[in-house]
Amino acid sequence: MSFYVTTPIYYVNDRPHLGHAYTTVLADFLARSHRLQGEDTWFLTGTDEHGQKVQDAAARNGVDPEAHCDRMVVHFQDLWKELGVAHDDFIRTTEERHVRVVQAVLSDLRERDEIYLGTYTGWYCVSDERFWTEKDLQDGNCPDCGRPATQIEEQNYFFRMGRHRDWLAGYIQEHPDFIRPETRRNEVLGFLRQDLGDLCISRPAERITWGIPLPFDERYVTYVWFDALLNYVSAIGYGSDGESFQDRWSSAFHLIGKDIVTTHCVYWPIMLRAMGLEPPRHILAHGWWLVGGAKMSKSRGEVVDPLGLARRYGADAFRYFVLREMVVGNDAAFTQELFDARYRADLANDLGNLESRSLSMVQRYTGGVLPEPFAGEGDVLRDCWNAVRADLPGLLHEVKINRMLERIWDFVRAANRFVEDSRPWDLAKSEDSHRRLGGVLYSLCEALRLIAVALEPAIPGTSAEILRRLGYDPAADSAAGRTDWGRLKPEARVEKGPPLFPKDVP
Ligand code: MSP
Repeated sequence: MSFYVTTPIYYVNDRPHLGHAYTTVLADFLARSHRLQGEDTWFLTGTDEHGQKVQDAAARNGVDPEAHCDRMVVHFQDLWKELGVAHDDFIRTTEERHVRVVQAVLSDLRERDEIYLGTYTGWYCVSDERFWTEKDLQDGNCPDCGRPATQIEEQNYFFRMGRHRDWLAGYIQEHPDFIRPETRRNEVLGFLRQDLGDLCISRPAERITWGIPLPFDERYVTYVWFDALLNYVSAIGYGSDGESFQDRWSSAFHLIGKDIVTTHCVYWPIMLRAMGLEPPRHILAHGWWLVGGAKMSKSRGEVVDPLGLARRYGADAFRYFVLREMVVGNDAAFTQELFDARYRADLANDLGNLESRSLSMVQRYTGGVLPEPFAGEGDVLRDCWNAVRADLPGLLHEVKINRMLERIWDFVRAANRFVEDSRPWDLAKSEDSHRRLGGVLYSLCEALRLIAVALEPAIPGTSAEILRRLGYDPAADSAAGRTDWGRLKPEARVEKGPPLFPKDVP
């Protein structure tokens, strides 16, 4: 089984914010989860470096676009590193491997008359770099960003998109899990009930220079979306590496925000069809992070800085918060209070306390050596774990990530309750209950190990540290075996360490 997951490639007109970080962390979570199941996983992210937005940003900064991109891409790459994002590849659309593919696709489509020269008259939004029809406009303004639209007429190249409308509508009908969630699928089907025009895929070089030149007419550069969408195939060797390309492409999973549904669910499948390729297997659109009730974005004001949060609370606290707080598909609010509350309750208290009290008791009562299990002691925890474990694959399949974390926390809380109920401090008072005490401590450490294994995709750094303290090497166990109860070996050395999630953050 293979699993190929992508994020949108981000514009390098500005630094990454919470919205970008969310999509990338979610993709990382999915990639890690599938990898843990033993699937052949490939995770791609990258940057969208051409077009008006980037050209304008470079001009504002007084540097040429290339230098601007080279400077800005580092912010994305560094942030992913700081957030523990383990992508397999990072594509920049200015790379030769990408430009070559875009130009080859354009030439091929032009030769086959899928692209033609025509006249365009329309309302254009400079900020969003897209044309709107008159009825789309709201009081003469762009319906998306609210800035004034200007009417322009020009000769341009068009991609024959309209003629594939019925095919696409049929395909979506026949493949219920192609576009998720349901609301987005219905939105796209609604969109396809209207006339679907052809897509203007060129921009005159006199207006925009920062783009991929059309191979058959140098007076034009490629429309940035036509260029950008192709990253999903150029990065995995389309046109050069047949076998590995086919293998990856057949399992493609695009993760996007709901703001870019039309480009991904309409333009892209039709482009692929014209190229003779299958649509991606799944497209999943998540909602927005809201700040003060509105979509958080630079043009609208306040943005949340993921790097600041990760430095203050730790990368894993950031990852946990976004994965736990957003129901994939819906919008979610970001506030500092919500972040603090989750950090305190779930991480510092529930998980942090369980870890520190369990490992302290092993130090105190058995000198840091893992004791033997004891018949019956901890069965309740084992049963609870087996129930939680059974639910996780289904939730992953449905991308109900918040529910997965909730289920794992049911187990974290069960382990804390087990400490209260079994009262190890009382068992330690008498020699007679020594073996029972050992059994309690063994079960606690085993519960902690399973929690760490299950949480690897969400909080990889913390997970690795817990396993290290427990003296457990996950690589030494099979993927399936790792989640079985009872893998810790008695006599192993257990180490204590500083709090995983300190209660006092700076
Ligand atoms: N460059 C295009 C995508 C091309 S993909 C072939 C683009 N880039 S972007 O930098 O604007 O980032 C878009 C993505 O960032 C959104 O689809 C979404 O994944 C994420 N988000 C940006 N703001 C967001 C929120 N406020 N909330 C959640 N995610 C949002 O569009």
